[in-house]
Parts: sequence; structure tokens; C-alpha cells
Amino acid sequence: MTEYKIALVGFGGVNRGFAQLVADCNAEWKESLGFTVKIVGVTDLFLGSIVAKDGLDAKQLVALPVEKGAFAQLPGGNAEAFNETVIKHSGADIIAEATFTNPVDGEPATTFCRWALESGIHVVTTNKGPIALHGAELKALARRNQVAFEYEGAVMSGTPVIRLARQALAGANVQGFEGILNGTSNYVLTQMKDGLTFNDAVLQAQQLGYAEADPTADVEGFDVRLKVVILANELLDARLNVSDVRCSGISAISAQDIAQATANGASWKLIGSADREADGSVRASVEARLLPNSHPLAGIVGATNAVSFKTALLGAVTVSGPGAGRIETAFALLSDIVAIHTASGN
Ligand SMILES: NC(=O)c1ccc[n+]([C@@H]2O[C@H](COP(=O)([O-])OP(=O)(O)OC[C@H]3O[C@@H](n4cnc5c(N)ncnc54)[C@H](OP(=O)(O)O)[C@@H]3O)[C@@H](O)[C@H]2O)c1
Repeated sequence: MTEYKIALVGFGGVNRGFAQLVADCNAEWKESLGFTVKIVGVTDLFLGSIVAKDGLDAKQLVALPVEKGAFAQLPGGNAEAFNETVIKHSGADIIAEATFTNPVDGEPATTFCRWALESGIHVVTTNKGPIALHGAELKALARRNQVAFEYEGAVMSGTPVIRLARQALAGANVQGFEGILNGTSNYVLTQMKDGLTFNDAVLQAQQLGYAEADPTADVEGFDVRLKVVILANELLDARLNVSDVRCSGISAISAQDIAQATANGASWKLIGSADREADGSVRASVEARLLPNSHPLAGIVGATNAVSFKTALLGAVTVSGPGAGRIETAFALLSDIVAIHTASGN
């Protein structure tokens, strides 16, 4: 029976969610997936760090209070975040990287990924920054060190998108995609269709925990732009940088625009898309588009995400599901570990 030793880098919503899954499901994974998971280290800027080569009690980790330096309360724990020690010297086979997304330079998460990969340790991450900004370099580093670099949760959290397109649609000739890749902006547009103003809809999204205190990245398309870069580079072999993707958001859409669209049997959606052009280049954008209600993405409402792949052999193939949530995103980490397990011949 395989036991994967995992170190968690960042212990906010997602990795705490992952610890919850370990606490609840490890015995079941033994039967259904053929492996178990042992958490051998955790590090977090706010909570501190801890290493236990014999394994930490996942239930105890989940119950840890969100207090500055809280890991110091556990035997062997420390109030300081010794990231490098936990990543390189906890004895982990896999690092689950879930610190904050830095859309400017991908740091410090990119450095964390490099440390692990260079040390011959697999990386699973939900963080868009390292992939959108340094994906090619990190993938090459992983290949050189014969380890995996997996990031299913970076786009649409646990809803299978990257691996689905890469594996299940291999040979179907994916020519492009269009997606609703940000739940907050879709929620806002849906509420506006129900009569709310833009500002009131954003406020409601904040009250429900969908939107950040500063909703700019969600409503101006910056979050979607990172996901478009990831998907285009992954599925269309593009080599796009963030600055290659034209980007606008939904803040200029008025209640009147929405009402007019509804009267005409159409819906406004924030669409991230990329297409292979006749000359082989890839063109990508993020923009609000007016979709006829017959379009596969027009009926996607609320915080739900969806992506429609344009394939030569099957036409449009559309998948929808949650695009956020701590357990939903933690599931993506599990799916990455399953992929590592499968690739190692199990
Ligand atoms: N939550 C979702 O639904 C979702 C969905 C898809 C992708 N993601 C991505 O997954 C990642 C994690 O999300 P989350 O919701 O778990 O975020 P979160 O709740 O903000 O947790 C991130 C944790 O990482 C810690 N951290 C920040 N910088 C660090 C550093 N230098 N060293 C060690 N720890 C550090 C933070 O500590 P401080 O609080 O002190 O900064 C925080 O505890 C993000 O990149 C996010 O974009 C999240």
C-alpha cells in the first residue's frame, strides 16, 4: 500500500480543506484509490510551522485556531513559518502549495515550487501565479528532476478542466475554448439580471463571501486573464504571457444593457477565450460578451463556472461546476495526487 507523505505550504482555506479531507477520507482512499496520505509538515506565514516525520494528526490540524503563531501550541511546532525547512527537509514526497496568488510575479509561491522540484519532490498547487507566469520553466524543471508538477485546481477549482482536456480530449483536436471562469463576476451579472444594480450585486457577492473586499481582480477580468493564459498554454501549446491577453471586465455594463439583452433573448457574460488562428498563432481575450440564450454558456448562472472546448471532432464540449470553495479546491489537490499515483504505474 502506497503512503504519500505530504507537506502543506500555506494553511488557509484550501490546505485546511485538504487536511479535512485527509481526516475524513484517508481510510476510504486506501480502498478506493489504493493509497493513503500522511501530512508530515505544514507551514503558514500567519500560523507558523511544524514538521513531524511520523505524521501529524489531520483532525488536530483542522481544529487549530486561526491565531498568530498557533502551530507553537502543538508539540514540535513553531510560531515562525520555516518554509524552506518544511519544503526541503520534512521528508515529504509531495508539496501541496496553496499560498496566495501573486498576479505580478507569482512569488513567493514560484520559489516554493522551485525548491520542491529541485529537491526531487512532486508539487501539487492551486495557485494560478506560478503557472500563469512561470509555467514553462516549472514544467521543464519538473521534467528534469523526474517529478510531477500538477495544478488542476488553478482553473475552476475541483471541476475537471485541465486534465479533462489534456487527457480525455486528446486527439479530438482542441482548437480553442471559451469560459465563464470567475464565479464572482457571473454572480454579479446574474443578480443584475434579477434587477440589482452593479454596486448592490457586488455588495451581495461580498456578503456571501464570493467577492474579496477589493473586487477589482474579479470584476475587471484580471483573475480570468491568468486562467486564460494557463488554459491557452496548456491546451493550445501557446506561449502567451499575461500581457498578450486583451482584458476588460463587467463594470461598464449597466442595468439597462442587461434589460435590453434579456428582452432580446440574450445574456451578458464575462468570457475568457482563446482560439488557434489559421496561421497557427493563438489569440486570447477576456471581455464581456452578449451571448444568445442558445449558447452553451448563456444558461450558466450564479457563482458556477463553465468552459466550452471547441474541438474539431466533437464540436463544442462543455463542462460546468464549482469554480471555488475550500473543499472543492482541496479536491483538486487530491485529483493531482491521484494523477501522480496513476503516472507512477499504480
Ligand atoms: N479558495 C478557493 O476557492 C480557491 C479556488 C481556486 C484557487 N485558489 C487558490 O489557492 C490558493 C490558496 O487559497 P486559499 O483560499 O486557501 O487562500 P488563503 O485562505 O488566503 O490561504 C493562504 C494562506 O497562505 C499563507 N501565506 C501567504 N504567504 C505565505 C508565505 N510566504 N509563506 C507561507 N504561507 C503564506 C497565508 O497567510 P497570511 O494569511 O498570513 O497571508 C494564508 O494562511 C490561492 O493561490 C488561491 O488563489 C483558491
